Amino acid sequence: MSEKQGFSSSFGAIMAAVGSAVGLGNIWRFPYIMGQYGGGAFLLVYLAFVFLIGMVLMMTEFVMGRRSQHTPPQAFVSLRPDRKGWRFLGYLCVFTCLMIISQYVVISGWTVNYMSDSASGVMATISATGMAEHFQSFVSHPWHPVLFLYIFTLITAVIILGGVQKGIEAVSKVLMPILLLLVIILCVRSVTLPNSSIGLAYLFSPDFSHLSAEGVLAALGQALFSLSVGMGTMIVYGSYIPENDNIFKTSLMITASDTLIAVLAGVAIFPAVFSFGQKPAGGPGLVFQVLPTVFNSMGTVGTIFAVLFFLLLALAALTSAISLLETIVAWLCESSSCGRKAATLIVSSVVLIIGALCALAYGPLDSFHVLGDNLFDFVDKLNSIYLPPICAIGTVIFLGWQMKKEDVIDELSNHGSITTGYFPFYYFLVRFVAPIALLVVLFTGIYNSLQ
Ligand code: TRP
Repeated sequence: MSEKQGFSSSFGAIMAAVGSAVGLGNIWRFPYIMGQYGGGAFLLVYLAFVFLIGMVLMMTEFVMGRRSQHTPPQAFVSLRPDRKGWRFLGYLCVFTCLMIISQYVVISGWTVNYMSDSASGVMATISATGMAEHFQSFVSHPWHPVLFLYIFTLITAVIILGGVQKGIEAVSKVLMPILLLLVIILCVRSVTLPNSSIGLAYLFSPDFSHLSAEGVLAALGQALFSLSVGMGTMIVYGSYIPENDNIFKTSLMITASDTLIAVLAGVAIFPAVFSFGQKPAGGPGLVFQVLPTVFNSMGTVGTIFAVLFFLLLALAALTSAISLLETIVAWLCESSSCGRKAATLIVSSVVLIIGALCALAYGPLDSFHVLGDNLFDFVDKLNSIYLPPICAIGTVIFLGWQMKKEDVIDELSNHGSITTGYFPFYYFLVRFVAPIALLVVLFTGIYNSLQ
């Protein structure tokens, strides 16, 4: 029975990986940091990083996954059987996924709540000045945020139970085109509003004076986070990629789609924000306070756009959460005697527990601190500063310095059947440029967090 199942087609593989990459990071984080760090100037730097380092990492993970046909710890061991210590890097990748999903489901739950509150008309009754308070009272409620994260996690788990083809692939093939359509509808509405050019100028006009060293680092951090690389997820998806797919082309399409959706999200958001005289804000403030105010100013159609927007966010978050849960479930299946059902049940229960603890950190558990932060902020620090860069550095060093060069070429060229003229450049990026750039990100992140 255990003939390993992968994605059934190249299209399915690309949709699933784009689903993983396109998430909350594209829609609420990218547009904001792009505006903040000099618009078009930031975009140029971001494009360079996303293609030179992010995509290189994605190819690296795909090569490791498809060649080994294993999940992170076992993938490292089977590619370098004489150096079993590398498996600890694999465990760290799985742990990173667990920390990210536990935080991710909290925010996704907020999104689901805002979608239902928009649909039921509750949001429309809240004044611009009451938005912040409304958000605060929701996130600090003793059980509402937990209920919504449970709903979201349950949906994710049901899809994972469906399996790689009938669950992940089938859902991604339907949801990703819908997601693209939703962004386009919102973009059209946004750019046809009065004074939309102010928002477009904020987003795109290149201002190199705002592109600080901090902006450059933010660009690299965002490039990695946005592509979901550096935590083993793409190793697992790599093991599902059809044998004759061209890893270079597949990675290029995924990277380009992810970037396109991030830019479109900016076009959907900022012209509308400026058109209604609001100020751009980042993260939760933008999505849960500024935008609901913008939708309310649109009158009755605002309700429709609000529901569409939160649906967009929830769907983007769902396909990302699927890939995170899949990574952990696939690992548990492989390293124990658990079947997929049992593994999904166990992992989801753990996510529900850690997720609920994170969600309650803004309410009943706000006085519970770990190293000076509440639990949500502590996990956020792990997820943004420490874990992903460490896993990413390990991954590029593994491929660049531990795997045999001929094996890497063999995998990228589908055993010699396609050309890989880019290889020397790719190999140089993996061995030298990526590790150094990632080390800089890691150390500056640590340095700044200690300030
Ligand atoms: N790429 C996702 C986003 O943009 C977030 C993310 C980071 C992620 N790492 C991941 C998703 C690993 C899935 C798997 O929101």
